[in-house]
Amino acid sequence: MQPVSAGDRTPVILDVDTGIDDAMAIWYALASPRLDVRGITTCFGNGGIEITTRNTLLAVELSGRSVPVYRGAAHPLASGGVETAEAFHGANGLGDADLPAVHSHAAAEPAAEYLASALAEGGITLVATARLTNLALALALYPELARRIPRVVVMGGAAFCPGNVTPVAEANIWGDPEAADLVFQSGIPVTMVGLDVTHQACLTDRHLRPGASDPERAYASLLATATEFYMQAYNPGAPAGDRSCPLHDPLAVAAAEDPTIVATKPYSVRVALQDPLTRGMTVVDARGRAPAPTHPVDVAVGVDAPRFLHEFCRRLGFNNAP
Ligand code: RIB
Ligand code: CA
Repeated sequence: MQPVSAGDRTPVILDVDTGIDDAMAIWYALASPRLDVRGITTCFGNGGIEITTRNTLLAVELSGRSVPVYRGAAHPLASGGVETAEAFHGANGLGDADLPAVHSHAAAEPAAEYLASALAEGGITLVATARLTNLALALALYPELARRIPRVVVMGGAAFCPGNVTPVAEANIWGDPEAADLVFQSGIPVTMVGLDVTHQACLTDRHLRPGASDPERAYASLLATATEFYMQAYNPGAPAGDRSCPLHDPLAVAAAEDPTIVATKPYSVRVALQDPLTRGMTVVDARGRAPAPTHPVDVAVGVDAPRFLHEFCRRLGFNNAP
């Protein structure tokens, strides 16, 4: 990847629910020669909002970079109920690793207000790797915002494959389906990086390095512990050597940085809201005879996994020549 000058970097805001793969995504983005991370907003999801915000502040601190963090939604648009993902991310959201004290604080401005004002400047891509609640709230504050956002890259959805929370629903969409449908219908250009492609972009045991110290990465020890937890969660009972885990959120960052890392097709996408059996399903209209959608979503249907994995491992200190 060729280094580029700061002026050529794509300005982005990350919207996260840190979470192990969100932490990886933050470190991947902050090490990018092509992205300018202007701010990070937090949402409930992999843990409650206090946990995901604390983990986001910690991930930024351990990166050695200074990026403002804005605390966001504590519950979905339509209900106060929150189900977290402890089985995949641990009770503390980072694989139950011993976490160092966090010294920084979230900004006073709430995430939705920050998104509304920052995105209104124009030209800033949002990479959303959590429930879409914060963006939906920002659109409610400032409906004109949709025209100012060049693209939202969403990690979420399952177009032509099973879900991961229910048979048909992926976690980020299922966790706030009303917000997701609102964003998909908003007219903002959306790239949907769903399970169709993130399940093809997997870290394996062969990428892991023994030992966890790395003078270039203060987060190395935490990353090693969290990755081991994540591997076990995705491969219960499997022996070390045969395991793999999907890099959901880092792949969304990679697609924002370099859209050619995924192949996309434009489809009409609606989110199922009514029936408990299908709630949170991304309903993709793949019929050739369907009328052209008013606001097509660019659905990722293919990924250059070797290229992505090589760069991911290089940036985060995994073995990239397994
Ligand atoms: O379904 C995977 C997604 O849900 C990832 O963003 C993960 O971090 C969780 O938020
Ligand atoms: Ca996430």
